[in-house]
Amino acid sequence: MTTTRGLREGDDPITMLTAYDAPTAAVVDEAGIDVILVGDSMGNAALGYDSTLPVTMADVESRTAAVARAAEDALVVADMPFLSFGVDEAESVRNAGLLLKEASADAVKIESGPHTVEMTRRMTEVGIPVMAHLGLTPQHVNRLGGYTRQGTDQDAAEEIIDLAGAHAEAGAFALVLEHVPANLAGAVTEALEIPTIGIGAGPNCDGQVLVINDAVGFGEWSPPFSEQFGDVRGEMLDAVAAYRDAVESGAFPTEEHSHVQSDLDDLY
Ligand code: KIV
Ligand code: NA
Repeated sequence: MTTTRGLREGDDPITMLTAYDAPTAAVVDEAGIDVILVGDSMGNAALGYDSTLPVTMADVESRTAAVARAAEDALVVADMPFLSFGVDEAESVRNAGLLLKEASADAVKIESGPHTVEMTRRMTEVGIPVMAHLGLTPQHVNRLGGYTRQGTDQDAAEEIIDLAGAHAEAGAFALVLEHVPANLAGAVTEALEIPTIGIGAGPNCDGQVLVINDAVGFGEWSPPFSEQFGDVRGEMLDAVAAYRDAVESGAFPTEEHSHVQSDLDDLY
């Protein structure tokens, strides 16, 4: 199993992908991905919602436990869903702890802002490793007015640099940078000792993360900053259509897939 400390020591860029169930986590783990994020992107990618806001602690706990049962080597990071943190500090810390204690996560990720600095310090103090997340934070979609690139003017860029430093100082072990200019991501990466992991943030980060559906081609849509490294949806569609055809034509099942109990009389 990777540890949060081990993450800092490697020379190769850190690789991170999401997974929301055991068989997918087993594939991601076997392929040698360093970190599996049980992202609240499960709202869109697994649960059929059109945002991450409806995702609950129960959703993240059950999916994290499934991923943790399947992952042998990767670090498992559970994403804290909307309203599970930030309303009340004690409740936030307790919810984060439950993801470790009851769902076997190795760490939590929190969509960060000025309100999560002290929270990150408290969680770290009680033994909960925290991955911070700045730039586009999709739980704030209603305030941001869309899933738009962040840190695009000087003030906004400097705020991200300052908040990144504040979270590192508070004890965060890594930082996700989402949908920010590559030169801003480079500046944050240079300024921090903890690793940065980018998504739509260009190549100047210590690692990269994508949503598994986008990376393997399992969705009908993927963001322009992603890349489809496979066509899982096409493969699955072919397999399902082949099964339908085989059942409809009578080609499946055959004797090969069946068993006749010869000592049963006169049944058929
Ligand atoms: O929920 C998620 O998948 C994420 C990543 C995109 C960083 O937060
Ligand atoms: Na997320």
